[in-house]
Amino acid sequence: MNNFEYKRKILFCENIAVEEICKKIKTPFYLYSSKQILDNFDLLAKKFKGCNVLIAYAVKANSNKSILKLLAKKGAGADVVSYGEMSRALKAGIPPNKIVFSGVGKTDLEISRAIEHKILQFNIESQQEFLIIEQLAREKKIKANIAIRINPDIEAGGHPKISTGKKTDKFGVSSDEAIKIYISAKNSPYLNIVGVDMHIGSQILQMKPFKNSFKKIEKFCKELEKNKIKIKHLDVGGGLGINYSSKKIKDITKEYTNLVKDISLRTKKKIIIEPGRFIVANAGILVTKILYKKSNEEKKFIIVDAGMNDFIRPALYDAKHLVKQIKLNKDKYKEEYFDIVGPICETADVITENAKLNKSIERGDFLFIEKVGAYGSAMSSTYNSRGLIPEVLVSKNMFFEIRKKMKEDDFLKLEKVPSWIK
Ligand code: LLP
Repeated sequence: MNNFEYKRKILFCENIAVEEICKKIKTPFYLYSSKQILDNFDLLAKKFKGCNVLIAYAVKANSNKSILKLLAKKGAGADVVSYGEMSRALKAGIPPNKIVFSGVGKTDLEISRAIEHKILQFNIESQQEFLIIEQLAREKKIKANIAIRINPDIEAGGHPKISTGKKTDKFGVSSDEAIKIYISAKNSPYLNIVGVDMHIGSQILQMKPFKNSFKKIEKFCKELEKNKIKIKHLDVGGGLGINYSSKKIKDITKEYTNLVKDISLRTKKKIIIEPGRFIVANAGILVTKILYKKSNEEKKFIIVDAGMNDFIRPALYDAKHLVKQIKLNKDKYKEEYFDIVGPICETADVITENAKLNKSIERGDFLFIEKVGAYGSAMSSTYNSRGLIPEVLVSKNMFFEIRKKMKEDDFLKLEKVPSWIK
């Protein structure tokens, strides 16, 4: 995480001391390094130089407009799962011919809009969805580009709640069903068969599931070709994991990019990858302030101003994120273990258990949660009537509030009381 570094025991994001930002913006807030986002993107893009690989950033990981714009300028495409995400991507300057539309529950309205925008491809997840896309394309007399998402029935190895490639998961269709759909699609003048799609899960840290699923997708393409169906794009999904811990683990990035490169050179097709976490996770921290300290015979608690509504990964997936001080000016031998908890009225509102922090940290001191750039802000809510928190982007020695805090009044404005209660 080299764009978040301690210099003389003070945490910096690029060239700015985080405590300087805390003087201007009230905690809790998300803080992102633009350099880290661009470095992560470049790391992949450089490996694919000269190959026909489209990096379609999975917008769901972090959909902030400024972040999408940073990536659009780099030539990224987008993997979207709603019209909301699609319009953000378009507004950020990602052209429709770099947008793929995934998701099991696309509405008729979302499909219609995507057809009108002539996106690169629909990743179709069921027979019924296929029929609706055909019908809407026919009504509009616009050819829709389609790919079918295959469910390869593969164990991806991550947390079961974020695994998507097993038969028991709701995603995609079996290869047998897909073949049938492709064959009927061939006869429609309003459908352009362009690709095959797959996405097996998220936070994958081993090569085996990728290798197996890539093999399956290639084999499936050959089968399609036997049926005289020609495929131009192979969308192999996202899923590349990152190291959230302080321990060293095997880094598979190089092996993964080689695998993508190989399949691109071997098949001579356009390969689409949909990374989300890999691009933004380590580019973001959540800065929070200590509200209270308390202890009993069992535990020492630190209550901070960020809660599970702001950051739900620990409560939802038992995700482990390191929590650290933004100022390390104390003696490191006087450390103690604390449970860092939020203000929400739920026992699950624990950011981390047993964080090792200096004994003397006190009310008013700032802490930060590491590697929350992906599925952090994007999954936040207003639970307990708390407004969404600011997002701040750093570039070198500049910072900018790329999303303002949502005020309590902002959501009250959306609510109306019927006359029969008044
Ligand atoms: N493509 C599709 C079709 C997806 O469903 C996803 C993620 C991605 C790409 C991007 O996957 P990534 O490269 O980020 O692993 N909220 C969970 C993760 C859910 C992932 C959902 N789909 C978490 O916080 O871990």
